[in-house]
Amino acid sequence: MSDTTIQHESMSQFAQRDNQLLLGGFSLNAISQLLGKTVFYAYDRQIMLQQVQKFRAHVPERIKLHYAIKANPYWPVVQCLKSLVDGFDVASQQEMLLALQSGMPVKDISFAGPGKEDAELLSAIVAGVTLNVESVGELARISQLGRHANITPQVALRVNPAFELKASGMKMAGGAKPFGIDEEQVLQLLPQIAKMPVKLRGFHIFCGSQNLKAEALIDAHQHTFALAAKLVAACPYRPEMINLGGGFGIPYFSGERRLDLTPVGQSLQLLLQQYQVALADIELVIELGRYLVAEAGVYVCQVLDKKVSRGTTYLVCNGGLHHHLANSGNFGQVIRKNYPVAIGNKLSATEQEQVTIVGPLCTPLDIIADKVLLPITEPGDWVVVYQSGAYGPTASPQQFLGHPAVVEVLL
Ligand SMILES: Cc1ncc(COP(=O)(O)O)c(C=O)c1O
Repeated sequence: MSDTTIQHESMSQFAQRDNQLLLGGFSLNAISQLLGKTVFYAYDRQIMLQQVQKFRAHVPERIKLHYAIKANPYWPVVQCLKSLVDGFDVASQQEMLLALQSGMPVKDISFAGPGKEDAELLSAIVAGVTLNVESVGELARISQLGRHANITPQVALRVNPAFELKASGMKMAGGAKPFGIDEEQVLQLLPQIAKMPVKLRGFHIFCGSQNLKAEALIDAHQHTFALAAKLVAACPYRPEMINLGGGFGIPYFSGERRLDLTPVGQSLQLLLQQYQVALADIELVIELGRYLVAEAGVYVCQVLDKKVSRGTTYLVCNGGLHHHLANSGNFGQVIRKNYPVAIGNKLSATEQEQVTIVGPLCTPLDIIADKVLLPITEPGDWVVVYQSGAYGPTASPQQFLGHPAVVEVLL
């Protein structure tokens, strides 16, 4: 079960010198000294820029790029992406405040999430942020809050379409879902919307996440454009924007291949021509999280101990599940697979051994990598987990067992 395919792909993104991994020109030893820490997440701004450039090179210019802050809300990352993307999607009031303080124009910020408290809704109404409405009940609450505040709320109806995004890591549309309003219900609601005290800016059609199959995304885009045209035709006035969703995935595991954006971009170009009249003058948006940040980040911890138990060699580290839940396999994986890993100060050592890398927590769930072939490693060496720039510290139980929280740095 040792795993090298993706190790090479993701490793090749980063520079190296004398067998040492470099981020922003710094070795892991240097980053550790910079931070005064031996466990950290480090993000490379050049790789984030490359991901944005890849999107821009393939996806027609007409389609704007928004970043879903939930993937990585680290403030320097948000600031860096502010200058690279056209808008932000937020999932909480806290993320909304980050988006506002970054200087992103308010019209380019949207707020999604199936359960928003009145205080969160009011905060978005006061800010002028577009609320992606997730239910008829939420729309009623938004209308009432807007009336009391004497402000017209800016809203987009989040639509739960009848179709789904096939082959997705996470399916978030089609069938019964807690997200958005069912397409049929939206069509019934639209004639009444003109009488409501809200400004309907448009629609949000988000079907799923972590998709590596171009054909599945193309199929979803075809359905999404058809639905968008149907919604525009049924809308009492012309909407300003339509969010076409996202779902561009990144390869985490052995055997996975990078998403090929060439056919996705070509298909979007054809769809823009096909729906040129139906969607004329409407701003179109694709909203991505992990695609922009995951490959730019590594999680780094230090080997504390090396021991052999009945034939298995364990590297015991000072970081693990509490900082990086997704890597431990406990953030939505059915069968645990290894993220790509390396020893960051011994990148191309030829002599290798099979090891299992674990964290400091007293639970068998705290696995960093299981049965991987790596250079001969000793205490003090750096374990690097690639593809770690999204859903890291903020998607991990950092309080669990009271170990210190992890630090982050953007280089
Ligand atoms: C509404 C919405 N937008 C964007 C995302 C980001 O997904 P990803 O990081 O896979 O691009 C999600 C993920 O759950 C989401 O629910």
